[in-house]
This record gives sequence, C-alpha cells and structure tokens, in this order.
Amino acid sequence: MHHTALTSLTAALLLAATGALQAQTPAEKTLTVRQRYLNIPVSHAVGRAPLSMQPEGGSVLNVEVRIAEGEPEYWVFKDLSAWQGRRLTLRYGGTQEALDKVFQADTIVGQAALYRERLRPQFHFTTRRGWTNDPNGLVCHNGVYHLYYQHNPYDRDWGNMHWGHAVSRDLVHWEELDDALFPDALGAMFSGSAVVDKDNTSGWGTAQNPPIVYAYTAHGARQTQCMAYSLDGGRTLVKYAGNPVIDSGIRWNSGDTRDPRLLWYAPGKHWVMVLFERGGHSIYTSQDLRNWAWQSHLPGFWECPDLFELPVDGDPSRTKWVMYGASGSYLTGNFDGKTFTPDGPKRHYTAGKIYASQTFSDTPDGRRIQIGWGQIEQPGMPFNCQMQLPTELTLRTTKDGIRLCSRPVTEVEGLLHRQFTAERPLDEAEASAALNAYAAADGLHIHARLHLRYATSAGLILNNEHLVLYDASHDTVNGWFYGLQDPASMALEMDVYIDRTGVEVFLDGGLFSWSAQRRTDGDRSGFRFWGTEISISDLRIDTVDSIWNDRPLTEAR
Ligand code: FRU
Repeated sequence: MHHTALTSLTAALLLAATGALQAQTPAEKTLTVRQRYLNIPVSHAVGRAPLSMQPEGGSVLNVEVRIAEGEPEYWVFKDLSAWQGRRLTLRYGGTQEALDKVFQADTIVGQAALYRERLRPQFHFTTRRGWTNDPNGLVCHNGVYHLYYQHNPYDRDWGNMHWGHAVSRDLVHWEELDDALFPDALGAMFSGSAVVDKDNTSGWGTAQNPPIVYAYTAHGARQTQCMAYSLDGGRTLVKYAGNPVIDSGIRWNSGDTRDPRLLWYAPGKHWVMVLFERGGHSIYTSQDLRNWAWQSHLPGFWECPDLFELPVDGDPSRTKWVMYGASGSYLTGNFDGKTFTPDGPKRHYTAGKIYASQTFSDTPDGRRIQIGWGQIEQPGMPFNCQMQLPTELTLRTTKDGIRLCSRPVTEVEGLLHRQFTAERPLDEAEASAALNAYAAADGLHIHARLHLRYATSAGLILNNEHLVLYDASHDTVNGWFYGLQDPASMALEMDVYIDRTGVEVFLDGGLFSWSAQRRTDGDRSGFRFWGTEISISDLRIDTVDSIWNDRPLTEAR
C-alpha cells in the first residue's frame, strides 16, 4: 500500500469516525403523549434512517423511516393509544429539521379523504397507510373474522414488518385496528397463523376464556418461530416469554425457516405446525403449543405453507388433505398427523398477482376460506398492495380428476347490483356494447360463457389489456395451461371482478383463477370480446358496491 492510498484510507477512517459521531447524536424530540396519533411526513427522496420511539417505562420501538425535509409525498402515522399520558422520546438518524415536523394530533393527516383516494380499491381490503403483503393469523373468533397482515406502517414499500390488523363480521367490510405485533429484539414480525386454543392446552388462557394462539416468525440474526396469545378477542397480542420456540436455521444451514401454519389434528389430539424450511414444508407437532417436535419434511415448496382437509364434492365421508405453498401450487394426499403423503403431481389452482394465500382457522360453518396477498400496485397512493377477494376452497371431481377450486365467498354477492341480463346468446359486438355501457363503473362483475365454435383463440379485452385470453391450440388461459371441461362444446365460463387497480378472473366456477394489475394511465378504449364467430351466452353485468361506503364500518365488538 503506498502513501497516497494510506492517506485516503486515513481520510476514509476519519470520515467514518465523523459519521459514527453523528450517529451517536441523532436528532431528538420528547413529548408527552396527549393525542391519538403521531403524524410523520414521508418523502422517498430521503433515504431510510432509524427512528426509535422510547415511551417512558416501556420498551423501545425501532423502525426505519424516510421523514421528509421539504414537501412530504404523503403522511404516515403511529397510533399512540397504548402510550397515553407518558413521556415519549423520539431519536432519529436523519436531520433535526425533519424530526421537528413530526407531530401528535387526534386525527391522521388525510383523515377526511381516507378511503376516498383516487386509486383506493373499492372492494378489496387495503391498509390506511403503508405497505402490505401476506395475510397472517386468519382466524374466526366469536363471529369476528380477523385479518392480520404483513404491514410496513411507515412506508409504501416493504420493510419494518409489523402485523397489521383488521376485523370483519362478513369477510367483505373490514375495519382496520391498530397494528398487533411490533418488531422486537428477536427481529421483524414475519408471517404466521392463528388458532383458537379451545381447550386451553397452552395454559395461556382459562377454561372460561380460551386464548387465540398465534405463531409467527421473528426475522432477526436468524429466522426463529415464536408464539403469542390474546385474551381479549385478538386485539392485544401478548408475546410468549419463552420465545423463540423453534430455532432451526443452524440445523438446516439456512436463512429460510419461516411462516408457521398452526392446525389441530383431531384424530391424534395434537397440534401441528407446518413450517417452511429451506425449500420445503416441515411438519412439527406439539401437545401444548410451546414445545415442538420435528416429524417430517416435504421438499418442493417455497414460503407460506397451508395444510387442511377437505371433503370431495361435499361428501364428508370422502376427504383429502391439501398442502400448498405461497405460489399457489398444491398437492392433494393423505396426512397422518406427522407426514403428508402426496397422491399425485403438483398442480396450480390460481396464478397471476396472488401470492402467500392463507385459510381461516375456526370458521363457524367449517368453510375453508382463503385470502391471498394481491400484488397490486397502487401508484402514487400512501398505501400499497391489497388483499384479494376471500374465496371458498373446495375439492371437485372434474374430467381431469379431483381438483382444488377457489371462488369468491357468497358474502361477496351482497355487494353486487344486477345491471344487465342477456336474454339470448350475443355475438362479440353485442356483448362488447353491453359491457361498454358500464365501462366507467368503479367496480364491475361480469359473468359470461364464451363459446369458441370455429375460433382457435378468443378472449375479453379491457382498455387494451387481456382479462381473458383462451388459446385452444396450446390449451392455455392467460398463458397458463388450462383444458376446457368439455372440448366438444368449447365453452369457457368466466366471472370477472374489476376493481380500480386490479382484476380477478375465475374460470368454470373457480377451477382456475387468475389476477392482474389494471392499467391506470387513462386508456379508456373499453371492453372488447374477440374471436372468430364466437358467441357469448349468460351475460350478466353487476356493479359492485364500495366496501368503504357505509362507514362507520362494521363494529366488531
Ligand atoms: C412471503 C414472505 C414470507 C415472509 C414475509 C415477509 O411474501 O416472504 O415468507 O414471512 O413475506 O414479509
């Protein structure tokens, strides 16, 4: 190393030392919490810097935030309910000028426009502020459906993983509550699940008040599995003092051990946790939800396992188990409480902008209800992504064998208002004209049967983008292999749900589903059915109500 290099090294070290010094004296602000929210201005022109929130006599919350120095792009907030009356010290790794713009108030900035923003999806759940990905902890308890979800409350991009929380009585109208799980010394709060521990096997509740029990991944130095419970109907989640309960990253020599899925295995009277571990799904078992024993591993899945038993064609004496991963590929097979044994190859029931779906535990009527993360961008909005429509999963015997189906829960029908019913089969021009009368509607549901007759391909276009493109010679729908149920009639049934920024398409009663982003650039060229001499039968058009119209939202308690 020659002299100039040494000099620049010294300079670099000096610079680093100055940087460290600055880091030791972050911007600071102390306030007494008197109002409901801390409002924080955000600008993506600023890099993320650490913000620590230290309530007097409580544990610190560390996040990373881009506090705007000039004009903010949008505002985010922290609900201060839990810290009322206390001194709160904020320390920020950015400038004092930025931190000084943070203020408390009883409303959030943008409250009046909430749910009325230009690109707010109208019948898909979205969070008030920030980023969402996977649904977590889906559970029904005392008639209330709980939707927890991966949430970055401080930014429209991924990071700072918390569990957000919303509740509903009908799976359609949601009320967002405060976040339920916050990052801690073990790491960020990654995905997980929930069950009602009816017999209080965990001992975290009582016989009179059995707990809701949660399993989640803490993403820290390693990914470890942790437990939490709630004794107040899912509002307050208390983390188990003995966390983590599984620390398997070293054993698997892997940074990927996450997304615990809990279920009760009735024949063996024990709990099961399906855990994604390095390229597949492991099965663990437990008597008390605290001590877990590894049993088996099924390779070939990535993230967010689910495992459940379903009747075939609704016949409770004929059941199969279904195992799936985040991508929507699934296996059917047998499960003996310790090992899942597939009975066929992997298949897909859904594709497109859906990922990391999870099903509800403890539904009162035994329906297997799923919600998936909709990877739908909400451009320029202070929130991002959405939850796809809740769907009921069933196993149906088809000409191809037994298949997993997913179709919107019947509750969604309550949002629909019939606008048009075709009295006879229409040609593509007539059907397109019928649809174009509603092209400006905010939310639309279209039901139709497309008959190809002489066409080898046909479809439905909205604003120059394909909603459905069936290619008979390659046997694909929207690029995914899909065989028509009856190749002689060449009919394809579709249910298309169009929201402001996304679309969901269900084929043949949910045998296959597909979802996509909608363009938001103002193309208004409208609907167009196409295909040589196609006909469209059973055309029905419904407008879809906004789930945010009838505020105050469903009061859950
Ligand atoms: C899937 C996923 C999970 C993880 C979470 C983190 O989208 O990567 O595996 O727990 O998101 O936000």
